[in-house]
Amino acid sequence: MELKFRLNGAERRLDIPPKLTLLDAIRDYAGLTGTKYGCGEGQCGACTVLLDGRAVKSCILPATSAQGREVTTVEGLAAGGRLHPVQQAFLDHSAFQCGFCTPGMITGAVALLSQNPSPSETEIRAGLQSHVCRCGTYPRIVEAVRAASLLKGAPRG
Ligand code: FES
Ligand code: FES
Repeated sequence: MELKFRLNGAERRLDIPPKLTLLDAIRDYAGLTGTKYGCGEGQCGACTVLLDGRAVKSCILPATSAQGREVTTVEGLAAGGRLHPVQQAFLDHSAFQCGFCTPGMITGAVALLSQNPSPSETEIRAGLQSHVCRCGTYPRIVEAVRAASLLKGAPRG
């Protein structure tokens, strides 16, 4: 079947099997491997992408749910040769160790800030509670999201 959607701002048509997950369509058919497979059960957040601007767990969504819609992955957040403010804040605050959770954590944070541009620390922790960082980098992640929220334009996603 054909999946026609926008991926990181570009029109894409993928010839995919009917029961494919959105994560597999993104990684194996569109070739974007920034989005990670962690648990495959919607529990860890490693596979988070934006679907029409809202954070979704792509490992538990059928690819067909993106039909005619806009998907943004971590590869699509930078613009004009500049990192997204959330990406930059993660770098500035060393908000990762192994980096496996980072793409999902960043897309989740972008969605969080688009809905709540000035979250408190408690709101950041609550907003990212479905994202697991096995390295336990949570304090620096929260710090980075807080720093990004203080920058004009952080919600861009
Ligand atoms: Fe999708 Fe863990 S891989 S939530
Ligand atoms: Fe290693 Fe989060 S930085 S899992």
